[in-house]
Amino acid sequence: MLFTPGRIGSLEIPNRLVRSATAEKMADEKGFPKPTQEALYRELAQGGVGLIITGHMYVDPGGKCHPEMTGIYSDELIPALTQLTDTVHEEGGKIAVQINHGGGNSSAKTVKETLAPSAMGEPYYKRSARAMTEEEIEYVIQAYAQAAGRAKAAGFDAVQIHGAHGYLISQFTSPLTNQRVDEWGGNVWNRTRFLRRVCRAVREEVGQDYPVFIKFGMADGPEGGISPKEGAQIIAQFIEMELDGVEISGGVRYQSIQKKILKPEEEGYFLPLVQEARPQTDLPLLAVGGFRSRKVMERALLSGLADFISLSRPLIREPDLPKRFESGEQEKSTCISANKCWPEELNTGIKCKCFPESEEA
Ligand SMILES: Cc1cc2nc3c(=O)[nH]c(=O)nc-3n(C[C@H](O)[C@H](O)[C@H](O)COP(=O)(O)O)c2cc1C
Repeated sequence: MLFTPGRIGSLEIPNRLVRSATAEKMADEKGFPKPTQEALYRELAQGGVGLIITGHMYVDPGGKCHPEMTGIYSDELIPALTQLTDTVHEEGGKIAVQINHGGGNSSAKTVKETLAPSAMGEPYYKRSARAMTEEEIEYVIQAYAQAAGRAKAAGFDAVQIHGAHGYLISQFTSPLTNQRVDEWGGNVWNRTRFLRRVCRAVREEVGQDYPVFIKFGMADGPEGGISPKEGAQIIAQFIEMELDGVEISGGVRYQSIQKKILKPEEEGYFLPLVQEARPQTDLPLLAVGGFRSRKVMERALLSGLADFISLSRPLIREPDLPKRFESGEQEKSTCISANKCWPEELNTGIKCKCFPESEEA
């Protein structure tokens, strides 16, 4: 099942393994990708993953989440981004770009003032954010659309809208961070208005046939946040929003990246959310979160719950894991989910640092 083709909208994907968006931290100060990023994508494409989703790219400098994040906020970036897609296509791979605006979760190192749906600070944001004006909301919606247009111009095979992990779209959707009393806040219809408007603007920019999908945070976790039930109701509207697929995630920021997935029972930690979403939509569902062994992946696909399995940390450690699965050389990722892949210093990029294995396990 893992090595049968699948589709997200008009995009045909040769197998069911997807590289989940993973911030590479391989871009210069203006967001231009460094040669290391191109090399990483080449390695992933050679490793046989069906679809690569890039790390989140910022649609506007005001929503740059952290240093070394790749940008898609200006036409000047198109040639550099085209080089990335050309490299993946040369290797026979497919590549989607994840577009994002950090809102209140943009680092003080990258933006002077953080903007969010409502004025708030700790514990939701690291520093106080100012509530966006109507004009700023309209401007950012257009920034998402223009970024999607650039993605298409640069040869990406699809766009993934980042609607998870406590960034701007999640901030609007979640009652924890959206306390607006105008048409952008309040009931769930109003809280999802920003998401609907982003989806519509993106669709108008890229046209009907271009694949657009979303990574959606179906449940916040903390009390008073989006519940899985409410998340599933929002997913039920995605066909109307003209989306072509949903990757199901949850949690605010690092809660989405659970540590120490060592046993098969601990794998696929968002599968209960996928189960809740499945009856609500016919769209292809991508399951992410702690998949490590081929057996668990196959089971999620064969049960009809998920259409694709998305992997982040295992592909940092073993970019050729799909090929190893296909050849039968390996049945399980050796990733121990210790979350040491983040770079501690600038100019290093994501890297598996869980060596030697014996000391870590
Ligand atoms: C280093 C690192 C960077 C990440 N960057 C992103 C990102 O840019 N966008 C996103 O949606 N998720 C990001 N994630 C979350 C992953 O896509 C994925 O949802 C999560 O790690 C769970 O999958 P895994 O158990 O296969 O790692 C990142 C995870 C890691 C470890």
